[in-house]
Amino acid sequence: MLDLRRQYEGLRGEVLAAVTRVCDSQSYILGPEVEALEREISTLTGASAAVGCASGTEALWLALVAAGVKPGDSVITTPFSFFASASSIVRAGAKPIFVDVDAGTLNLDAELVTRKLSQRIPQETVRAILPVHLYGQCADMDAFSSISTDFGIAIVEDAAQAIGAKWKGRGAGSLGVTAAFSFYPTKNLSAYGDAGIVTTTDLEMAEHMRRLRNHGSPQRYYHDEFGWNGRIDAIQAAVLRVKLPHIADWNQKRRQHAATYDRLLADAGLISANSASPVRALARSPQATHVFHQYVIRADRRDELRKFLTERKIGSEIYYPLPLHLQNVFAYLGLKAGDLPVAEQAAKEVLALPMFPELTDDEIRLVVESISGFYS
Ligand SMILES: Cc1ncc(COP(=O)(O)O)c(C=O)c1O
Repeated sequence: MLDLRRQYEGLRGEVLAAVTRVCDSQSYILGPEVEALEREISTLTGASAAVGCASGTEALWLALVAAGVKPGDSVITTPFSFFASASSIVRAGAKPIFVDVDAGTLNLDAELVTRKLSQRIPQETVRAILPVHLYGQCADMDAFSSISTDFGIAIVEDAAQAIGAKWKGRGAGSLGVTAAFSFYPTKNLSAYGDAGIVTTTDLEMAEHMRRLRNHGSPQRYYHDEFGWNGRIDAIQAAVLRVKLPHIADWNQKRRQHAATYDRLLADAGLISANSASPVRALARSPQATHVFHQYVIRADRRDELRKFLTERKIGSEIYYPLPLHLQNVFAYLGLKAGDLPVAEQAAKEVLALPMFPELTDDEIRLVVESISGFYS
């Protein structure tokens, strides 16, 4: 599914030198490595500033609070994402409102969001909308920008899976007021532990997030609000800075692998315009520069196919088997099976296939031949 060792082997010398540099400096938390990473990420994304933090989950919380989300508010998001997209809303004291996804891309459906906003009860304050750039493809940011203007609601991007992704040439991370990225070891740009970063187009929000990640403290031992220890350490920043110059090339390789999967799946007759084919591709938005954090298909008899691949030592994963509105922890929201049918159907069909820059064409061929073997 993902072989991180191949990347490590190519970068081992540089990574170890960077870690040694931090150890020699004896500066372990925040400091110059983190500041340099923040500058480099804001340049990459096109945002005005970036604030390094402990994880993608922490980044989401910082992004939401800086965007003005307060206890008692509501935030609209997708039910088809990793848990943190919604748990961060709860941690900010707000209520998640789940709106169904687009059947093609599986990203939050902007039309349904507009409908929801038009029908909302007057007492309810929807403070932000949190679209997730699922699998590395930006949600429809034209539509969300219009919604933001029309309804006066902030857009907070969950860009955890989308470093280097673009919408009409503009970087994920610069498309909303704030955006959260994860550097979890499986991500396209990955640390050697937990780490994350928030980007913003607003310099005051950046300063606010710098305080929030450090116990809400503008000055040591003086606290104006409740923050947290959400800091990133210098070793993670140094490792990320070794990898950052490669991200454009790695993302390009992922796109090439996706094109190879597309071609081989079509050649094998597994994906076709005919809707009776056993495998279906997700839609690609022409405005989006996809970074294929995951290459995902929708498959008939998905669980049997997965078992068949596992027996042949081919990794695969289900992102995500149970939509968020049906998770036990969100039972208090009162949603039930059938309420968000597009996400619920997707959860039964999606399967992510092996995807990482160092994957070879022969390996992709083997995956597709195995899928073909299963259906024949
Ligand atoms: C869409 C999404 N949001 C948030 C997160 C949380 O990031 P982290 O694991 O770094 O806390 C992840 C990654 O796991 C993710 O995929």
